[in-house]
This record gives sequence, C-alpha cells and structure tokens, in this order.
Amino acid sequence: MNQMASSDMTGALKPRPVVVNRLSKSYGQVGVIAGLDMRVDPGEFVSIVGPSGVGKTTLLRCLSGLMPPTSGEVTVGGQKVTEPLGEIGLVFQDYRGSLMPWMTTLDNVAFPLQGRGVAKAEREKIARRWLDDVGLAGAAEKYPWELSGGMQQRVAIARALAYDAHILLMDEPFGSLDAQTRLGLEDLVLRLRRRLGFSVILVTHDIDEAVYMADRVVVLSGKPATVIDTVAIDLGMERDQIATKSDPRFVDYRNRVLSRFIGKDHA
Ligand SMILES: Nc1ncnc2c1ncn2[C@@H]1O[C@H](COP(=O)(O)OP(=O)(O)O)[C@@H](O)[C@H]1O
Ligand SMILES: [Mg+2]
Repeated sequence: MNQMASSDMTGALKPRPVVVNRLSKSYGQVGVIAGLDMRVDPGEFVSIVGPSGVGKTTLLRCLSGLMPPTSGEVTVGGQKVTEPLGEIGLVFQDYRGSLMPWMTTLDNVAFPLQGRGVAKAEREKIARRWLDDVGLAGAAEKYPWELSGGMQQRVAIARALAYDAHILLMDEPFGSLDAQTRLGLEDLVLRLRRRLGFSVILVTHDIDEAVYMADRVVVLSGKPATVIDTVAIDLGMERDQIATKSDPRFVDYRNRVLSRFIGKDHA
C-alpha cells in the first residue's frame, strides 16, 4: 500500500485528492477522450455519466493506473499515477469475471491481503469482518457460483475495501442486477462510505443512480469525450430511495443531467 495514504486510530480513512489533468486517450488513430479535467476531493462521491461508448471505462482504466493516458496525467495526492495503487479499489460491472471461481468467498476477500504480507489468521479475520459489513457473514465458505449476482458484487465490494481502499472506482457496478438488488447495493455503498469516509468515483449510465448517490455528477459527451457539465448535488449525506427521489431538488438535478445527456437545453 502507498505510504502516504493512512488510516488513523479510529480506522477512518484519509483519502487523497484525485486530479485529472488535460487527459487524452486514443486507441490507435481514434481519439476517445480529449483534454479532460476533473477533480475528486477527499471523501467526495463523484458520479460520471455518459452514453454507452463515450469513454467512461477508458477513463476509469486511466484513473486506476491500469492503462496510461496518451497525454495528460492523473495524480493522487499530487503524485502521478503510473501503476495500480493499493489505496485505489476497483469494482467492475462483470461480477462473473471478477471473483476467482475456485476460491471461497472468504478466500476471495482475503487473497489480495496475502500480497501485503498479512498472516493467514489475520487475513481471515479481516475478510470475515468485511463480509459481515456487506451482509454476507453466512456465505464465507460458499463459492462464487453458489451466490446470486448481487451477493457476488457484495463480495467484490468487500474485497476492494478490505485492502484499505481510500478511493473506490466503480464501473457500472450494478448494471446487470435486478432493480431491487441494485437499490439495496446503492444504499450499502452509501452506508459504508458515510461510516468510513472513502472517496467514490462511480461510472454509470443510470442518471437516477448517478444523482442519488453523488455529491457531484460529471457529464461526459462527444467524440472524443470531454466534460460537458458538472452538477453539484446538494442533498445532504443521508439519502433515502423514496424520500430523496421525491425531493423537488432531486427531480431538478435529474432533469438537468438528463437534458445534458440527451442534448437538450435545461429549461
Ligand atoms: N482496447 C480498446 N481498443 C480499441 N478501442 C477501444 C478499446 N476499448 C474501448 N475502445 C473504444 O473506445 C470507445 C470508448 O469505450 P469505453 O471506454 O468502453 O466506453 P464506455 O465505457 O463509456 O461505454 C468505444 O468506441 C470503444 O469501442
Ligand atoms: Mg464501460
């Protein structure tokens, strides 16, 4: 884990700011992202929305250090990201491909800690605590294929956080789940984030989800993509699927993002 990120004695995280500076990315001759600027403050929850194919996954890959930008840079705490950092946790849409099928739920969460030199008993203790936190205490000995999609995504979240992630990057994490499971997982992530204070960058094409979860929504559009709007979501830390979504401010934020999304001026 990166030396500069740290937890204090209460276990609260101290995430560092993420800054994207004039980031461009091309695949061969094709420009996907052009001159994108973005900032995520410590503990902030930023949703990134944009149509399918706009470059959201490409942006997250650059943010995570898995792929270098063509030009520009990503910094965490002022330090240029050139490889995956321990303080950045990743949760992808495809839960089927993200867990090791031959490992139990417990081992899937405990495994990455091995690389950090944590002893076996301690790894399992940490993993059990995280499984408990995501509501899966009873599934520790089960294999991924014995779990529903929603449960597998909970394991992926536990695994990302068990590594002491200060910054969680999520790429359409609930996209292939049914509506009820999805709402439950949105609230789980919000609860964990309120308690632990990690930053979140959530990529989604679901505008309601983007607004419901975030402190700020960044709208991407164009070929190559740039930020066409940034909407601050002033709905407080406590969110509720029914009360928040009926709040006139929520409706207004949603309409603003939607109008940018479909290219209409917001009245
Ligand atoms: N590895 C790659 N090589 C070439 N083109 C790619 C690659 N990955 C994505 N693309 C293209 O880049 C564009 C943006 O893709 P992506 O970042 O996956 O968009 P999104 O996640 O918003 O749907 C798409 O046109 C896609 O076909
Ligand atoms: Mg994508």
